[in-house]
Amino acid sequence: MSLFRNLKLMTAIDSEGGIGKDCAVPWNLPTDLSWLEMSTLLTTEPNKRNAVIFGRRTYFSIPESNRPYKGRLNIVLSGSLTGEEQSTNDVVFVRNWAEIERTIAKFSHELENVWVLGGSEVYSYALDKDLVEEVRITEIQRDFACDVFFPRLEWRHRFTIAQTKRMNENGVDYSMNILLRR
Ligand SMILES: NC(=O)c1ccc[n+]([C@@H]2O[C@H](COP(=O)([O-])OP(=O)(O)OC[C@H]3O[C@@H](n4cnc5c(N)ncnc54)[C@H](OP(=O)(O)O)[C@@H]3O)[C@@H](O)[C@H]2O)c1
Repeated sequence: MSLFRNLKLMTAIDSEGGIGKDCAVPWNLPTDLSWLEMSTLLTTEPNKRNAVIFGRRTYFSIPESNRPYKGRLNIVLSGSLTGEEQSTNDVVFVRNWAEIERTIAKFSHELENVWVLGGSEVYSYALDKDLVEEVRITEIQRDFACDVFFPRLEWRHRFTIAQTKRMNENGVDYSMNILLRR
């Protein structure tokens, strides 16, 4: 099974499909954050870890103290690398999707899942190329006036809802959903 052809994707969207505003996430939903942490960190095999893929803006919007995400291989996509970015065993900077595929192949012996964590263009590419086998999508029932959006829903007919959980936190109604490729 090719890990690259069976990526997992995780996102949270507001009522208008928004994912971010001013290079940040404009809501505070601790249970949703824990779900992201647990989903991307957990492996069934103790000697394996997961990888997480970010676009440059998303990665560098994470507070410096929290990045790279611990216990995971962080892959950061950027076409404007200066050459000063140091790749390590925990974070790899890549210039394009072909390099993502090569990175996943290189680390495949130690990887269990590969998670696509945004932003917008990164999500679009993975869904358009049908690289995603599972989507974990939090849908928030409020408009947060976002300036970055999740791709439109053309991809959705290829997935079926496997699990949904309704939540209310900080006065905000939302649902946490797991969709699987049909
Ligand atoms: N709600 C959520 O679940 C969620 C998840 C993720 C992010 N966000 C939010 O979304 C916003 C950031 O997302 P964004 O869409 O603006 O930016 P982004 O996707 O994180 O980063 C965009 C950058 O990624 C690089 N990139 C993307 N595709 C590439 C490709 N095919 N080849 C080479 N480089 C590529 C480019 O970097 P260069 O410019 O260096 O070439 C591009 O400018 C923030 O507000 C963040 O908080 C929300």
